Amino acid sequence: MSNILEIRDLTVMFGKSIAVHDVNINVPEGGIVTLIGSNGAGKSTTLNATLGIVPMTRGTISFNGEDVTHASTSEKVRKGLVLAPEGRHLFPYLSVYKNLILGATQRKDKEGIQQDLEFCFELFPILKDRLKQKAGTMSGGQQQMLAIARAMMANPKLLCLDEPSLGLAPAVIEDIGEKVREINRTKGTSILLVEQNVHLAFGTASYCYTLQVGELVAEGTVEEIRNNDVVKKAYFGG
Ligand SMILES: Nc1ncnc2c1ncn2[C@@H]1O[C@H](COP(=O)(O)OP(=O)(O)O)[C@@H](O)[C@H]1O
Ligand SMILES: [Mg+2]
Repeated sequence: MSNILEIRDLTVMFGKSIAVHDVNINVPEGGIVTLIGSNGAGKSTTLNATLGIVPMTRGTISFNGEDVTHASTSEKVRKGLVLAPEGRHLFPYLSVYKNLILGATQRKDKEGIQQDLEFCFELFPILKDRLKQKAGTMSGGQQQMLAIARAMMANPKLLCLDEPSLGLAPAVIEDIGEKVREINRTKGTSILLVEQNVHLAFGTASYCYTLQVGELVAEGTVEEIRNNDVVKKAYFGG
């Protein structure tokens, strides 16, 4: 199986401090990979540098067999490398519908956009019921679903999700995990899930990378990582 994403030797510095050091991550085409780590480990920086939202100090990004290290964020989005960012970044005063359509800004295929809108309504029926509601007035879980749906409106080949569990109740987190798997299963979209919530990460992905203070300390199948001593110590108190 070929990799849809290959991050090689990614290093990101903010001034003199190293946020991410020599990180290597592969996402196989059609796979679900998770990147876990505690607060400040460098998870968001890894995603943001991959998308070109923060500058890389060193490293290369290959997407769908193409070197995109120097491509702009909007070029990456057009190629199908799409991020649902940490904290959702919705437009709170715009309607659910407007937020969704803004996800398709880089597209011109009207038919495809309409089909993906239908897909989002099937996946998240609540969004169809709330089309005219202002995004900012919805519950946290509904806003996260809108953030994921908006990213889907860009027609991603790889959907990167930055901590979708943030601030949500366990039952809602469970629901989000199920929807992410459904996207992967029904559309074949590859997924890179960044999470601090290991239950969501392990329940959703099949392969896992672990970041600690900017460095990868463990990787393997979810089963392997569940039983990894370093990870157990960090997350389950040994
Ligand atoms: N724009 C920035 N400027 C300076 N330091 C930053 C910036 N963004 C992140 N950092 C630092 O980089 C490190 C990793 O942060 P981040 O990638 O947000 O971690 P995580 O997403 O795993 O919580 C932290 O020490 C954080 O303070
Ligand atoms: Mg983060």
